[in-house]
Amino acid sequence: MLKEAIEVLNPVLGGIYVDATIGTGGHSEEILKFIGSDGRLIGIDRDIEALKITSDRLKDKRVILKKGNFSDMENILSKEGISEVDGILFDLGVSILQIKRPERGFSFNSDMSLDMRMDQEQTFSAWDVVNRYSEKELERIFKELGEERFSKRIARVIVRYRTKKTIDTCSELSKIVDRYVKRGKIHPATKVFQALRIEVNRELDELKAGLDASLRILKKAGRLCVISYHSLEDRIVKHFISDCSKKGLMKRLFKKPLIPGSDEKRVNPSSRSARLRAAEKI
Ligand SMILES: C[S@@+](CC[C@H](N)C(=O)[O-])C[C@H]1O[C@@H](n2cnc3c(N)ncnc32)[C@H](O)[C@@H]1O
Repeated sequence: MLKEAIEVLNPVLGGIYVDATIGTGGHSEEILKFIGSDGRLIGIDRDIEALKITSDRLKDKRVILKKGNFSDMENILSKEGISEVDGILFDLGVSILQIKRPERGFSFNSDMSLDMRMDQEQTFSAWDVVNRYSEKELERIFKELGEERFSKRIARVIVRYRTKKTIDTCSELSKIVDRYVKRGKIHPATKVFQALRIEVNRELDELKAGLDASLRILKKAGRLCVISYHSLEDRIVKHFISDCSKKGLMKRLFKKPLIPGSDEKRVNPSSRSARLRAAEKI
């Protein structure tokens, strides 16, 4: 949803923008086309590997790249002497880079360690969740963060398996889930993997912190643009924007979220679940 996101963000000449999920810089590259030589772009990501690629890709003196979480955004900006900005973009979730590299441990079939850390400097990984959480805690995260109908059953089989050996790789976990859960179109372990990823990276808490910070950082008429990829994230964004509009702090730019067109879904199937919501600071 690159085109739609840039249209909604509406970058202006000389503006200061935050790409809070810069990844490998696709969205930022577009923003830079509109902000002229005086504009500035602060690109944040917690993935050091992505930042290295982006610093080679966007060799541009208007760009400042920083490693950090959404909850670090205000601090990062204040260290750069920036107190307010014209627009903030969040393109949530995992990057192609993270998904496609088996060693990052995000994908079902990887024989690599259960990892799923977006921030490679963090010590807590999916291995810790799968091997150290109690049955009750596993059941809770599968239910709440994966919206997994069979959360109880899956938590039970994981804990039973652990009495013999630790669960070390992504494929080992997928096979355990696969044996007990039958599903139609999606991979049987999809919801379990989603729950683990959200738990490991504290994605929902970080999103809430990032949205709250955006409200404080945006200038009057500055724009917030968020692309989410699953219903838990989208619900948080929707409620945040509607709360802010009720309180007269932000104006919602459109009621229904924008979704990708059929062409984009065909060319880029991972965009299928994308939802774009946006608001303007009052
Ligand atoms: C979908 S990708 C962004 C892709 C990017 N728009 C591009 O054009 O390449 C999401 C990125 O956000 C980062 N990310 C997710 N949650 C984050 C958080 N709480 N703080 C910082 N970065 C985060 C991930 O590491 C990942 O690189």
